[in-house]
Amino acid sequence: TTIEWEAESYDMGGHDTYMHKEICEQADAVDRVLRGRIDDRFATVHLGGLGIDAREARGVRRVKILGCGSAYHAGQIGAQMIEELARIPADAEPASEFRYRNPVVDPDTLYIAVSQSGETYDTLAAVQELKRKGARVLGVVNVVGSAIARETDGGVYVHAGPEVCVVSTKCFTNTAVAFALLALHLGRVRDLSVADGKRIIAGLRKLPDQISQILRGEEEIKKLAAEYADAKSMMFVGRVRGYPVAREASLKLKEVSYVHAEAYPASELKHGPLALIEPEVPSVAIVPDDELLEKNRATLEEIKARSGRILAVGHQEQEVADHTIVVPRNEPELDPILLGIPLQLLAYHAALALGRDIDKPRNLAKSVTVE
Ligand code: AGP
Repeated sequence: TTIEWEAESYDMGGHDTYMHKEICEQADAVDRVLRGRIDDRFATVHLGGLGIDAREARGVRRVKILGCGSAYHAGQIGAQMIEELARIPADAEPASEFRYRNPVVDPDTLYIAVSQSGETYDTLAAVQELKRKGARVLGVVNVVGSAIARETDGGVYVHAGPEVCVVSTKCFTNTAVAFALLALHLGRVRDLSVADGKRIIAGLRKLPDQISQILRGEEEIKKLAAEYADAKSMMFVGRVRGYPVAREASLKLKEVSYVHAEAYPASELKHGPLALIEPEVPSVAIVPDDELLEKNRATLEEIKARSGRILAVGHQEQEVADHTIVVPRNEPELDPILLGIPLQLLAYHAALALGRDIDKPRNLAKSVTVE
């Protein structure tokens, strides 16, 4: 069974597709996930539904994040934020893999289930298995009162509003922001300084305007999409913070345009996938101005040397790339939130150019409530 959205009940607001509407709503959506949660006095955030006190938060030894598809990718971003800001070892895993591998459930690990719908069967089943074994499980969920929201011990609502398009955009972005809030909260009850807390808060506040700025570049991205839509396949690469961004952008392109795409950590290219690089297989490279910039530039050179076309996404023009989409700078820990947004538009315009059924891609359902 699948959950059918009553799409007619949501106004298209002048957009031709829900996907476009939802991409364009992201500045407001991010504003909503931040609203009422920032505490300037203590340079932290209040997450009312978390249900974990400071002592418990300090006792967490590991964080394991579980979700499927885009929710899993947002969880990968979240795991990195939690490691960076709270210095707790954290990782993300597909919920389905987790539940089938008879995992060792550890009482000092905080488990977090991520889901837009809150009804994805694999994620729900992972939550139920964890609860049965006595684990503490939080939810990072969009739909209020959904099964995962009900079955978890507490959590953070994502407040993206209704997402109708099968392909997730605004909920992905809001989930990444919700994780930034959680990471900041965990960081500030542990060892994150007031100065760093303030720095992250200032970065969070900048996000809505920066998202609007990125969206104003749509016409330029539309032209790029027309150039890349005829690709035989596309390679998405990024390092560390850029890697989940590459994975999500690759999934987005596949889902909505049916153009084959692969995502790899940039450092893995030379271990095999470089064999695929040719002019008909362009690469999208995530190249933020962070401590890995020089490494990423070396990757661009490697691709160029195999006559691959390159579309870079970063904070400044990359000479080696054929095209660069420049996004505004924020704090490095928050970079993944912004870097993926132009690539949502790229997938959307590629799908439009190819005449795809954008809101309901073939073979997919909004919420997968079966195994
Ligand atoms: C997103 O674009 C996908 N359609 C899909 O990967 C989705 O993220 C996944 O099925 C999980 O859904 P959920 O967030 O509702 O649990």
